[in-house]
Amino acid sequence: MKDQKVSVVLVSGGSSGIGAATARLLAESGITVYAGSRRGTVEKPAPRIIPIRLDVNDEASLKAAVGQILEEQGHLDAVVCNAGNGIFGPVEGATDEEARFQFETCLFGSLKTIQACLPTFRKQGFGRIVTITSVMAILQLPFQGFYSAAKAALLSLSESLQMELKGTGIECCSVLPGDVSTGFTAARKFTAAAQDPGSPYRERMDKNLKKIEQDELGGMQPEVIAKAVCKQLKKKHMAVRVIPRIDYGAVGVLVRILPERAKLWLLDLLYS
Ligand SMILES: NC(=O)c1ccc[n+]([C@@H]2O[C@H](COP(=O)([O-])OP(=O)(O)OC[C@H]3O[C@@H](n4cnc5c(N)ncnc54)[C@H](OP(=O)(O)O)[C@@H]3O)[C@@H](O)[C@H]2O)c1
Repeated sequence: MKDQKVSVVLVSGGSSGIGAATARLLAESGITVYAGSRRGTVEKPAPRIIPIRLDVNDEASLKAAVGQILEEQGHLDAVVCNAGNGIFGPVEGATDEEARFQFETCLFGSLKTIQACLPTFRKQGFGRIVTITSVMAILQLPFQGFYSAAKAALLSLSESLQMELKGTGIECCSVLPGDVSTGFTAARKFTAAAQDPGSPYRERMDKNLKKIEQDELGGMQPEVIAKAVCKQLKKKHMAVRVIPRIDYGAVGVLVRILPERAKLWLLDLLYS
């Protein structure tokens, strides 16, 4: 296995929030970053950040992005699968389209991104794959079932892949952010059932939404997550799972030791 350093990175969802902060921090440390998004722009342009237009739900655009990077740089060392979105609403009454909307970008978009990079990583005998999942991958909240499920699926996928890639020089790490203050909150979509004034869940959904929006808007700055990603990309071997910030890390430990029923009771008390 080659002892190689990361010097060219593709960050999906690099136009804003966590992705843009990650791109900035990596670029400041001398790494060339391709910040990919549908907008094809970055919040604060900086040297060594190259904005690139890509849609993680479109294989052709991912292939074109990787092709452009290889043509311009000759190699691609790492990918940060960060593009994502959220949909809020109860499981009951959600349409197939609403449920699939969540899985499309957060799970299948990341899968397509990884698959677009893997042949290059394999050929190089080196590659780093970082997925941005969420603490909600291990801590399920009411009315966020599709988001929790999509992030849990991506976390599982990352850990299976880490084992599959044994001996290839390619490693996977999933970073599980807690609440982060970004445009994610304003961009959140709502299922039709979530907008129904007569929904039997109305009161609990309103309480839940108020709490999660408050938590997110008062949450950590995206730079905290960016720092965790950069730290992993600079290590010889990445951790398999990282929960940034000590309080969220403690939640991660609690989730492992609490009996399942006690965990759900506590979350329900706090969130609905
Ligand atoms: N904010 C939080 O509290 C929080 C907590 C845990 C995990 N996360 C995760 O962190 C990641 C980044 O979110 P954020 O908080 O930084 O929110 P954000 O500011 O809304 O960023 C989302 C990014 O994803 C991009 N994107 C969305 N769909 C895309 C697509 N189909 N193809 C390419 N890019 C796409 C957006 O750019 P375009 O619109 O230009 O395409 C944008 O750059 C997400 O995966 C989110 O689930 C966030």
